[in-house]
Amino acid sequence: MGSQIAMVCALAGYSTSLVDLSDELLDGARDALQSRMDRDVSRGRRARDDVDRAMERLRLSTDRATAVSECDFVIEAAAESLEVKRRIFEDLDRETPRRTILATNSSNIVSSQLADSTTRPDRVLNLHFFNPALVMECVEVVPHDGTAETVVDTSMELVRSLGKSGVRLRREIPGFVANRILGAIRREALELHDAGVADVEDIDRAARTALRHPMGPFELMDLVGIDVVHLIRLAEFEQTGDEGALPHPAVRRLYEAGHFGRKTGRGWYTYDDS
Ligand code: 3HC
Repeated sequence: MGSQIAMVCALAGYSTSLVDLSDELLDGARDALQSRMDRDVSRGRRARDDVDRAMERLRLSTDRATAVSECDFVIEAAAESLEVKRRIFEDLDRETPRRTILATNSSNIVSSQLADSTTRPDRVLNLHFFNPALVMECVEVVPHDGTAETVVDTSMELVRSLGKSGVRLRREIPGFVANRILGAIRREALELHDAGVADVEDIDRAARTALRHPMGPFELMDLVGIDVVHLIRLAEFEQTGDEGALPHPAVRRLYEAGHFGRKTGRGWYTYDDS
């Protein structure tokens, strides 16, 4: 998601740095973005000039401290782990100017859990994009109790300038709005499957053809990533202590087998290059 969020920012005209842990990961991100952009140009969805200029505005780096040293806004999209994110926010607090807003793309780790790892809790919030970030219009803007109102306003303005539609939450709740609705659908789909009511393909077909969802709940888990779904559930359990939040056994089995969905070629469905 990080690479697509960065591309969205570069396309909107912002000078953008995409930071990751290794050159290999960054090369992979650049290749994936370039082929997405080439495809969009060939289908007449974007102008070649706009894409080329956006690619020039997008710097890729493994040196985060330098990349963020002058930036106004950081959107963190690291692994869904509280420990990892707290460490990153602590470092960002040292590496960025005092004015910089620090946002997390997490859907489950609410920003109040990260804010106190910085010396600027009033400039910390969640900015939650949806997968695939290049396509999906919604971004949830979620302040914690101590986020300054001006920071929320600036974030809403940023979202608008990215050509996205901002959904402003009045207070934090793990999963926010869209993922909570999605979670209810996913839970029901998994229960129907467990009870042997219908196959994965038919449950997905019902969601697509009866409800006009663009994808069924199982296809969507494969798109988002079984690993991500699994980690989100664990993070919610850690935050709430609610055992009902734990990953569904079928999701856990796929996760433990390393079947993460599209990214590994197998999840609920099997994928090949075609
Ligand atoms: N990345 C970027 N662009 C993509 C893409 C991807 N992974 N997949 C598809 N697209 C774009 C492409 O431009 C594609 O056109 P192309 O194939 O000609 O290049 C265009 O979307 C249409 O794609 P398809 O014809 O393959 O299929 P669809 O019309 O079904 O669209 C979809 C694909 C946009 C992914 C659509 O199926 C959809 O909206 N699915 C639901 C997605 C959704 O619900 N996302 C939210 C997930 S929850 C989440 O992200 C929260 C997080 O916290 C977990």
